[in-house]
This record gives sequence, structure tokens and C-alpha cells, in this order.
Amino acid sequence: MGVLSIFPGIRRRIADPDLAIDLGTANTRMYAAGKGLLADEPSVVGISAETGFVEAIGSRAASLATNPDESFRSVFPLRAGVIEDLDAAAALLTPLFRRAKRFGLIRPRVLACAPTDACDEERAAIVEAASRAGAASVTIAPEPLAAAIGAGLDVSSPYAQMIVDVGDGVTDIAVICSGEVILASAVRTACSDLHTAVRRSIVDSHGAWLYMREAERLTRTVGVARGERPVREHTARGADCRTGRDTRITVSNREVSAAMDPVVDTIIGAVLRVVADLPTGTSCEVIESGVCLTGGGAALPGLAELLAKETQLDVKPAADPLRAVINGARQMLTVCNRTGLWMN
Ligand SMILES: Nc1ncnc2c1ncn2[C@@H]1O[C@H](COP(=O)(O)OP(=O)(O)OP(=O)(O)O)[C@@H](O)[C@H]1O
Ligand SMILES: [Mg+2]
Repeated sequence: MGVLSIFPGIRRRIADPDLAIDLGTANTRMYAAGKGLLADEPSVVGISAETGFVEAIGSRAASLATNPDESFRSVFPLRAGVIEDLDAAAALLTPLFRRAKRFGLIRPRVLACAPTDACDEERAAIVEAASRAGAASVTIAPEPLAAAIGAGLDVSSPYAQMIVDVGDGVTDIAVICSGEVILASAVRTACSDLHTAVRRSIVDSHGAWLYMREAERLTRTVGVARGERPVREHTARGADCRTGRDTRITVSNREVSAAMDPVVDTIIGAVLRVVADLPTGTSCEVIESGVCLTGGGAALPGLAELLAKETQLDVKPAADPLRAVINGARQMLTVCNRTGLWMN
């Protein structure tokens, strides 16, 4: 144990603040101890088409991407919940870490969240990206455990509780008991697959590629529902497949729902499999405690209700589902300090 672990007061004075990060497929959030939430921005890096250098990250890169002059290329460092482009991930984190910097005598310790099904290489990529961005050490925490803490569940309870985090690229399902994940399962299917399914359906039937933000808007507006419902028409914008020109498309809620259905089935099927596999005692506890829904999918109209109907469980969306993971990771920083859970 180093001298700085024995005297945390000294460390606090001379080190950069500890960081919690939720590096998500769609959004990256970062909390710095003592400073608060310093980032909640899209996980995107804007590269100058001319120089090949990183021009902007996060919200600024996302707004540059809407510029039609094509002087920027957008790179998304993550896909399906894990890092796909390590250089881009490090480029995204570097300026974020700089926001928290103080004297720089000792680099920050970082707590990063990862999906429960991330393999060793995928975990190593998070460690590498954060290290390149300036981390002294990186501790990996299970994303649904952080989500549960952030959602306000008492994870120390000896009674099993279930959490389902439906993000942009991954749906992570976990059962938590006495502070530990006792059962977990993840599918690399989540909100981005809903958007893709809607875009594919519309390109087939209307000959136009819906813009990404329009696909997101339609998905949110139509929401999830099963069975017959009154037909509603929605207009959205996209690019005509033949001319490439901006065009308006009119689609019905039924068409959007039909496109989303197989993706919703995959998400619900994954949850049902975990519920079916629960040992009897745990199952009774989960029936009692219910399911907490987090991630962007928790804000998708109708998903919690459908999940409740299919699982016969009480499903409650978290109060701030998009920030549940970072809020939990923030609280875990304190635990790391108290228990010496840090990697180094
Ligand atoms: N109100 C809403 N209704 C429907 N979808 C929403 C809503 N708000 C956000 N989303 C969707 O949620 C997704 C982002 O959720 P979140 O920030 O939890 O994902 P992430 O953490 O980046 O991804 P992952 O954890 O899978 O890597 C996006 O696909 C976004 O379109
Ligand atoms: Mg997430």
C-alpha cells in the first residue's frame, strides 16, 4: 500500500480529482469528485476532412456534423456498448479529463463502467482508452450495478432486485443481492437497433433514408404498444435514395411499430430468459421487489408497461434513467476510497 493510500488527505491535495465515467454508445458522462458532472454529451468525435485531426468532440462535434459542407467526418468510438475505435475513444476522453484537471502532480484514478458481458479485450480497451487520456489507474464496474445505485435501489439489501438497463447499443440485465451482481445477461440489442429497423423499413417502403435524428424522434413519438391501435400519420424528413435530396415522408404509427416489434421482442425475450432462469427463492424476491428500468430505453413510451405485462413483474422506470449509471458510478467513487477498491 503506497503512502498516498495511507494519507488520503495528501492525495486529495496534490492529485487530480478521481473520475467516474459512463462511456456509452450514444452518450458519454463524466463526474469528477468534488467538481460534479462535467460531461453529458454524445459519444462522437469530429475529424477534419482536410487535416485528419480531431476538430471537436461531444456536443460540438455533433453540431458540426449537421453542417452540410462535409469538412468534418464523424467517428463514433463505440458500437453495441463497447469500444470499436480505440483512438477515437481516447480522443473523446482526453479533453473531458482535461476539464477536471487541477495541478497535475498525480493523474486521476478512474472508475469506468462496462456491460456485464464485455470480454477481456473489451475491458482492456476501456482501460487503454482511459489511460491514454491520462488516467493513473482504471477500475471497471458492472454497468447495471452502477445503474441500480444511481436509480436509488438499496443494493446492500439481502433481497434480490432486478435491473434492466436499455441503452443505445446494449441491454444489460442483472440481479443484485447484498451489493453483488449474482446473475447477469446482456444482449447487444437496444435503442439504436430500433432506429435502424425503422430506417430500413422506410427505405424499403418509401425509397428514402430517414435522417438519424428523425428516426429517433419517430421512435419516441410512436413508442411501444402491442395489438391494434388507431392509425396515426407522422411526417419525417430524410434523403431521397435516387436524388439524395431532402424529402418529406409520411408514415403511419403502425408501420413504425411493425418495424420496431422484432427489436422489442429481442429485448423482452432477453429479460424473460433471465426471469425464467431465476432460482425459486430469488424469483420470489424479484416478484416482491420488482424490476427497475434504466437507460434511454426506460424513457421509451410503452416499454415499461409492455415489459411488465410480459414478465408479470412490477416494472418501474428510474427517476432519471439516462443518468442512472453515472449517478451510481459517482457514488461508487466514495466506496472505492473507503474500501481501497482502486486498481492500484
Ligand atoms: N425519451 C426517449 N424515448 C426513447 N428513446 C430515448 C429517449 N431518450 C433517449 N432515448 C434513446 O436512448 C439512447 C441513449 O440511451 P443511453 O444514454 O442510456 O445509452 P448509452 O449509455 O449511450 O448506450 P449503451 O449503454 O448501450 O452503451 C439513444 O438511442 C436515444 O435515442
Ligand atoms: Mg449506458
